[in-house]
Amino acid sequence: MNQVEASASSGRRLEGLFVALVEDLRAFIRGRRVSYEEYHRALEFLARVGAAGELPLLVDVFLETMVDEVNHGGRPGTESCLEGPYYARGAPLLEPPYVLPQRANEGGDVLFFSGRVRSTDGAPLAGVLLDLWQADAAGRYSQFNYEEPRFNLRGRLQTDDDGRFEVRTVVPASYEIPKAGPTGELLSALGRHAFRPAHLHVKLSREGWEPLTTQLYMDGDPWIDSDVVGAVKAALVARLVKRDSPADLEERGLKRPYFTLGYDFTLDPGEHP
Ligand code: BEZ
Ligand code: FE
Repeated sequence: MNQVEASASSGRRLEGLFVALVEDLRAFIRGRRVSYEEYHRALEFLARVGAAGELPLLVDVFLETMVDEVNHGGRPGTESCLEGPYYARGAPLLEPPYVLPQRANEGGDVLFFSGRVRSTDGAPLAGVLLDLWQADAAGRYSQFNYEEPRFNLRGRLQTDDDGRFEVRTVVPASYEIPKAGPTGELLSALGRHAFRPAHLHVKLSREGWEPLTTQLYMDGDPWIDSDVVGAVKAALVARLVKRDSPADLEERGLKRPYFTLGYDFTLDPGEHP
């Protein structure tokens, strides 16, 4: 397809989507007998969402899991999970031994996150790029909840020759999406809490395999069954293990208890085995 054909085809796709969306919304207004007062309140709400810069947040909270399902549901390999609004491109490429960038006074417990990446036929995959990002021990993301350092608790690393990786970081906290703005107001009006269970975000990529964006959750998290975004999948819940025996501390040369979380990923070769 040349550029002119591609642009005509994307124009037709846009028109088809837009017409269907307007039809669905008109049917919704008719079916729900939406009043003028409700219509104006909705407009005022959306204007405030835009002014507060919360459009990506609002839409990700209510709709992104469906986009993920439509695009990745039923695919072989590790299950996908939404990207959410807090990804930042260009995180530093780290050198082993991997440690996510941290502030000098970074709070929280030390976490060693490790695992192995395989192809769906079981072969270990070397050179898979893992792009990791997470909230800190207070549930805050760099660049969104605090400015500096820009790539705090964000980094990219690679699997070794056996497809293995290990990275040192801190245990993320469960996270409350901003409550002060219009998205929080809406959740509170709906009688819903604003928590996401603690999670690690990761994008995995390697040429010739389908890229995977997913999240890992931690067994026992108080919000695991009531994620505000509804994104938790059982297969993505991993065991967070506390290590506090003298042998554990000696193994890592640490003086206080730490945690480990292991998870093995499987990537789908798609059309290119
Ligand atoms: C998150 O993963 O942190 C997230 C996802 C969707 C909405 C808000 C936050
Ligand atoms: Fe997140």
